Amino acid sequence: MKNEEFATPKRKKFMHQSLKFKEKSYLCNMKQLLLSLFIMSLALTVQAEDGHQLWLRYQPVNTSHPSPLTSNPSTVDLARHELETYYTGGNVTLSIDATMPDDDGFRIDGNTIAARRDVGLLYGAYALLRRQALGAPAAASYSSHPAYALRLLNHWDNLDGTIERGYAGRSIFWPAADPQLIREYARANASLGINGTVLNNVNASPQMLTVPYLKQVQAYADILRPYGIKVFLSINFATPMALGDTKTADPLSPAVARWWKKKAHEIYKLIPDFGGFLVKANSEGQPGPGDYHRSHADGANMLADALKSATPKGQAPGIVMWRCFVYGANHKGEDRVKQAVSEFKPLDGQFRDNVILQTKNGPLDFQPREPYSPIFDQISQTPNMVELQITQEYLGQSRHLVYLAPMWKEFFSLVNPQQLKGIAGVANIGLDRNWCGHHFSQANWYAFGRLAWDPSLTSQQIAREWLALTFTSDSRFVAAASQMMEESHESCVDYMMPLGLHHIFKFDHHYGPEPDGFIASYPLEWCPVYYHKANRDSIGFNRTTTGTDAVSQYRPDMARLYNDIATCPENLLLWFHRVPWSYRMKDGSTLWQSLQYHYQRGVITVEQHQNLWHNKLRNFVDQQRWAEVDERLRDQLASAQEWRDVCLKYFSSLQQ
Ligand code: GCU
Repeated sequence: MKNEEFATPKRKKFMHQSLKFKEKSYLCNMKQLLLSLFIMSLALTVQAEDGHQLWLRYQPVNTSHPSPLTSNPSTVDLARHELETYYTGGNVTLSIDATMPDDDGFRIDGNTIAARRDVGLLYGAYALLRRQALGAPAAASYSSHPAYALRLLNHWDNLDGTIERGYAGRSIFWPAADPQLIREYARANASLGINGTVLNNVNASPQMLTVPYLKQVQAYADILRPYGIKVFLSINFATPMALGDTKTADPLSPAVARWWKKKAHEIYKLIPDFGGFLVKANSEGQPGPGDYHRSHADGANMLADALKSATPKGQAPGIVMWRCFVYGANHKGEDRVKQAVSEFKPLDGQFRDNVILQTKNGPLDFQPREPYSPIFDQISQTPNMVELQITQEYLGQSRHLVYLAPMWKEFFSLVNPQQLKGIAGVANIGLDRNWCGHHFSQANWYAFGRLAWDPSLTSQQIAREWLALTFTSDSRFVAAASQMMEESHESCVDYMMPLGLHHIFKFDHHYGPEPDGFIASYPLEWCPVYYHKANRDSIGFNRTTTGTDAVSQYRPDMARLYNDIATCPENLLLWFHRVPWSYRMKDGSTLWQSLQYHYQRGVITVEQHQNLWHNKLRNFVDQQRWAEVDERLRDQLASAQEWRDVCLKYFSSLQQ
């Protein structure tokens, strides 16, 4: 592929710059070597760190008198302990204020933290420590309230310790856990305001609800409780049958309903503040009410009733989070991105009040870029939650530096955060010493938590905050590294799937490219060729009114916008439109030129980031973390080049 082939004047300049950049880097080798030696000696003086402390690298200031933590601390004990150990600004008064809004929020006035609830005091303590670390003015009055009551992590952890789409080692929970690690996990989450966790994979084992595992859940709940974190479980819909207790799992069978009620009582006896169930039903081979010709509402309501009957009095009932990630069941053959609305819209209004529909941000499956899911336009009588994926299944996993907050903000720019009841993030946490595999993947856990509390924060604000807390607040470092983070998502889209392309990943592991992927024995909607539909003349999926009409599932203004090729955002062009290779883009280039440009731009951006980290940011970061990130950036560059080369070679071969 010759670069000149797609060189518009603007691009020529861009390509030229990048070539110059390369030449220069060869010439400078000697100089760099000397510089590197010098910087290395500086770096050795920076304290060794392995990333385990996350963004909580506070130094104890009052080692002489921190109040000892009992083995069974209350939430207020924890707040006090954190402040006494790490706060330099003097004694802090913690006060419960019954006149404040009834939520997890807090108010800080000088050295007083006020909150309606105990957990608000803990959140206030973490906010104070964060503000101290970031150098915010100490005496400022500051109050903060969460946007959502439900701010949950979803762990896709299996009981054998493996993690579905986990890239940071094995599970911290299963088959057994180190209680100290669970405390550290709880503290990290509480420092962000995350207040619930689903402990097992949505592809759930029926064993989860057996006594030995429930006892383990009880032990985790006891550790997490003072940190304000409730536990939830994913359930397998056929559990009573799979365990041999009933002959069917039909939600309308009285024996089945009785089983679930009894089970719910058993759970609440062990865990009085149990949060509820997360359910993946009739999706990707999981059992569900559809197996008995019952609807999702029949299934969800039966579970909702069981939880309601068992929740201790005076407490909000446990909830059912019913996932809308379904395809290939009742609407087999329909454009996959339409199936969730087809399935759930007719049921809107039929769910109990303790059921929430949980839907991925996009209608397909956590692709590098998707339009928002039209469920959020169509379901109005049932509360909705969004499910974001923190683990980077389709975004380079723990090998690529891809900061996801810009992508999540894009979602929030189109789906009003206020219309959602809660937010869930598929966790990227494992037993790796640094929790997330890639040091920068910690930023996605952090950003998820911060946005779950306040979706109006900007991705840049969060990046800056995280960098300052995790590495150093030196403004030169924060400015350069936050820019790198900010650019990283778009560059990943560029080198993987620009202009609305989607799902052209290698089968099964979802890391590398396989644009020619087709396996006749697989469901068609798992095959890359189904999604790009490229041939000699055109590329893209016609989802307009002349195609599958997926556009019509959007609210009218968005439907119009996406349906018209002239107004459809170019970054979603091939998602909604089938377009000739010679189509003129807004900048005058052809679609084919533009595609090449994006792939190339993605690679060049990674190259620049790798160069920045390698040459300019080294002396700001301790040796181990610097080297680990450096190694991964090198890998990322090779992977980005592979994406570009494989995809462009394939698409170009079609046009011969
Ligand atoms: C994706 C992912 C699966 C996961 C599924 C889900 O398809 O690859 O591993 O189980 O999403 O969200 O249920």
